[in-house]
Amino acid sequence: KEIEKGKYKYFMLKEIYEQPKTILDTLRGRLLIPEKIIYIDGIESNKDIFINAKCITIVACGTSWHASLIGEYLLEELTRIRVEVEYASEFRYRNPIVGKKDIVIVISQSGETADTLAALKLAKKKGAFVFGICNVVGSSIARNVDAGAYTHAGPEISVASTKAFTAQITVLVLLALIIGKYRSTINDRCYEFLCKELGSIPGKVDYALKTDDTIKKISQVYHNANHFLYLGRGINFPVALEGALKLKEISYIHAEGYPAAEMKHGPIALVDENMPVFVIATKKGYYNKIIGNIQEIKARKGKIIAIVNEGDIQVNMLADHVIKIPNISEILSPLITVIPLQLFAYQIAYIRGKNVDQPRNLAKSVTVE
Ligand code: G6P
Repeated sequence: KEIEKGKYKYFMLKEIYEQPKTILDTLRGRLLIPEKIIYIDGIESNKDIFINAKCITIVACGTSWHASLIGEYLLEELTRIRVEVEYASEFRYRNPIVGKKDIVIVISQSGETADTLAALKLAKKKGAFVFGICNVVGSSIARNVDAGAYTHAGPEISVASTKAFTAQITVLVLLALIIGKYRSTINDRCYEFLCKELGSIPGKVDYALKTDDTIKKISQVYHNANHFLYLGRGINFPVALEGALKLKEISYIHAEGYPAAEMKHGPIALVDENMPVFVIATKKGYYNKIIGNIQEIKARKGKIIAIVNEGDIQVNMLADHVIKIPNISEILSPLITVIPLQLFAYQIAYIRGKNVDQPRNLAKSVTVE
């Protein structure tokens, strides 16, 4: 059946709005809330490999690489296994140190990205156990891995990836929780709490989508900017990278993502009254540090657009604009904080009259080197 845009002008916006449902689809049959059980066949049947892992290497490209970085935070935090993340194009040409008993996870929406497929084959040749996280069923990567889990986000048409990204993160959360439980690196209380929190994600994503009106107004103010900076810390640092990538891809505005504290080692030199800075400032471990970073930007007349939690007071007073999202455990927060960034990239590209679904020079699936 032909996929249609329905009431949406572009597939990208439709796919952004589908996320409460696609995340639910990713969780379906895997997160059993009343029983507090998470089950994924490809993990259960390779239980010993995951329990005994010393190191996991995650390999991907583009937006899937950003999901991989989030996976690094998730897996290290919940399983205490060391995780390395690599660009597939680099991994495949540098005689990587992986061998028997090592786990390599490959992440790909299309399952056809040439570099990721080549990296997979190399990892297998070196004797690693390769686990795939793909969206397209029966794709080349899905067919070549030792085991895997599909993301079940449904067909993604827009070149800029949105719902596949949140589906990848959802699978990584499930994976980290299952392995953490096997290895007893998370206690039952924490596990049960996170299962419950995970169940609340689709509803909270729905709520985060209601920021669209605020984002439209902010986009009207900044659509002529030439540069943007995106800052985040901890597990939201890769979200800052993803926010910057979305803006670059579809609006052709130069944007950089940075870990907030690293700003003083370079990007702060760029900050002046013409530099809008997106800051992910949700109220968690790094909150006070982030406030310090915001003050440094304000002192140089930069404009702050902050993503905050409902009820936030301090950042609200400092920022030029705030976007309020619901509260959630920090470890699950990328699933919520990325939503306004996706919407913002869309709105800016739309105002600038760009072809949102088919950005120049980019392909949905890069099947050549
Ligand atoms: C291309 C697409 C991106 C995607 C990347 C990796 O650059 O435009 O949206 O993130 O490839 O694709 P994959 O299908 O392997 O996730």
